[in-house]
Amino acid sequence: MSRPRIVVTRRLPEAVEARLAETFDAALNPTDDPMSAESLAEAMRSADGLLPAVSDRIDAALIATPGRRVQIVANFAVGVNNIDLDAARAAGLVVTNTPGVLTDATADLAIALTLAATRRMTETEAVLRRGAWDGFRPTGYLGMGLQGRTLGIVGMGRIGQATARRAALGFGMKIAYFNRSPVGPFDFPAEALPSVEAVMAAADVVSLHIPGGEGNRGLISAAMIAAMKPTAYLVNTARGDVLDEIALAEALAAGRIAGAGLDVYAEEPAVPAALLAAPNLTLLPHIGSATLETRTAMGMLATDNLVAHFAGRPLPARVV
Ligand code: DGY
Repeated sequence: MSRPRIVVTRRLPEAVEARLAETFDAALNPTDDPMSAESLAEAMRSADGLLPAVSDRIDAALIATPGRRVQIVANFAVGVNNIDLDAARAAGLVVTNTPGVLTDATADLAIALTLAATRRMTETEAVLRRGAWDGFRPTGYLGMGLQGRTLGIVGMGRIGQATARRAALGFGMKIAYFNRSPVGPFDFPAEALPSVEAVMAAADVVSLHIPGGEGNRGLISAAMIAAMKPTAYLVNTARGDVLDEIALAEALAAGRIAGAGLDVYAEEPAVPAALLAAPNLTLLPHIGSATLETRTAMGMLATDNLVAHFAGRPLPARVV
């Protein structure tokens, strides 16, 4: 029997590409150029499986490609907001993701952004780089210490918990969180609050860990940001569309909150000019899972999903 044909939309770590090439009739993307809508449609017609990244939009029109041969979309991500899941369900298209393997890397980055914001790293490094640092001052560039402060977690799933654990056990922070469904117990102290707004109001640092897409779009609105303490910080390593980015930029510019750190944006790779101009804001280019170990593990899990599908076995991480 001929091997299933898999179109891989972006370059993947070497070990993953080697395994895909060994296991499947794999069409890899050595140039790493993003695929156009037409080439994705062509892939839908000519391949048995697609392995896309979050930068590929798998929307209803693509899923409805006439003559579609693709049976499975094995997303290279835990988040699946780049895929129209309702359309996939209706079309009988299998969708898988990569949960678990990127938890630690993403939680590490949430902590890194927390430190960057509270210790004013981006702002102060810029002073030094433009030659404007005039030396040590006892009252220069004062930030906020984390010990005894409250970290507010919005979305206490795997990554939210891993971030909370680091903050509680590593930095002595108190944890307050909101999660839609009951979770816990945890191996660190944490208090559940009744609403997102209550977390926004109670926290010295708010860290977002909710999925993007329909249900959460714009959840962290101007009103939610207004509920924060003027001394508080906001960190987002989840998805850009959960946050009103312009309201955040305005709050930073007006000094209504103390700072923020973002790794994700609503319209990637575009970043609103208002954010680029906002003070005490660290902006990273969606690198939450960007370690070689993690990206390799994500690719291996996406491949495991494909292998299981074509062998008729239960899928390690099925979404639809
Ligand atoms: C994910 O997996 O959802 C990340 O955002 C991309 O690595």
